[in-house]
Amino acid sequence: MNTYSQELKETAKAMVTSGKGVLAMDESHATCNKRFDKLGIPTTIEQRQAYRELILTTPNLSEYISGAILFDETIRQTSRAGVPFTQIMADAGIIIGIKVDAGAKNLAGHPDEKITEGLDGLRDRIAEYYKMGARFAKWRAVITIGQDIPSRACIEANAHALARYAALCQEGGLVPIVEPEVLIDGDHTIERCYAVTDETLHTVFEQLYRQGIVYDEMILKPSMVISGLNSPTQATVEQVADKTVECLLKNVPATVAGVAFLSGGQSIEQASEHLNLMNIKYKSQCPWPITFSYARAIQQPALEYWRGNDANIANAQQLLLHRAKCNSAASLGQYSS
Ligand code: 13P
Repeated sequence: MNTYSQELKETAKAMVTSGKGVLAMDESHATCNKRFDKLGIPTTIEQRQAYRELILTTPNLSEYISGAILFDETIRQTSRAGVPFTQIMADAGIIIGIKVDAGAKNLAGHPDEKITEGLDGLRDRIAEYYKMGARFAKWRAVITIGQDIPSRACIEANAHALARYAALCQEGGLVPIVEPEVLIDGDHTIERCYAVTDETLHTVFEQLYRQGIVYDEMILKPSMVISGLNSPTQATVEQVADKTVECLLKNVPATVAGVAFLSGGQSIEQASEHLNLMNIKYKSQCPWPITFSYARAIQQPALEYWRGNDANIANAQQLLLHRAKCNSAASLGQYSS
């Protein structure tokens, strides 16, 4: 048996403990800078440090947030007063997570499709992150819906990489968050999104099985089954909740420790409403807890208020805490906007 087995099970359970979810704050430099740029915030290492400090020092964050996913830069950083972020998290009782993929790159021979890279040297990086205090990891695969895509080649290559990543994580003591994101971009219907998500999840679990992944030592981070952003017909909250749970029940083994959704470009209210309704209607039928691992749907109001100005920190933290609280309520089926 894996020496980390007991710890992995406990960590996975703690990540999805009742009323809590995971905060994704692992934006790469490129993504973080893009969001800063839009708001006129300087794209410097100092501003990224100040922003991550704002998030991690939000009072009472751990009431609603079990763990936070960091980027490599952030896990090595300190607050401006010199306290390591890992220390701040440990003191607050927030489990340390780390993004370990190297990003989604163009898939050779497959225009408009992506493959997530980062397996080379991953065993050593996992060992280093574990020593730094990390107890879970994240790897995001991207599946794009378009005219003739996704291809089997794209789905299979990404599922295989996710499974190899997950195996290395479990070997090295980190709970893998397995994140196959079917992008919301496009004009597709919710039915098409269902078909693609169904095939993707099926293939991912086939590969996880092949690589010997222990399901109660992992968390699935899926996208919801939803209409494309530019689809002329937008599914209702009820349709999204129904189709998403139907797809999960069909594909996700009962022993998976938890399901923690990404928000994927939904509005902040939608992300809470969908999660809420799934928990109201289906909690008793689902074998795994259903919660959140949102980035934008928790951070966006706080980032927009802060805008790089120290004088705005306290109010921005209240906005962040509010969205964390809303999504905590949604994970219990108790959200009202
Ligand atoms: P969003 O909630 O903004 O989709 O981000 C979640 C995430 O971690 C993407 O990898």
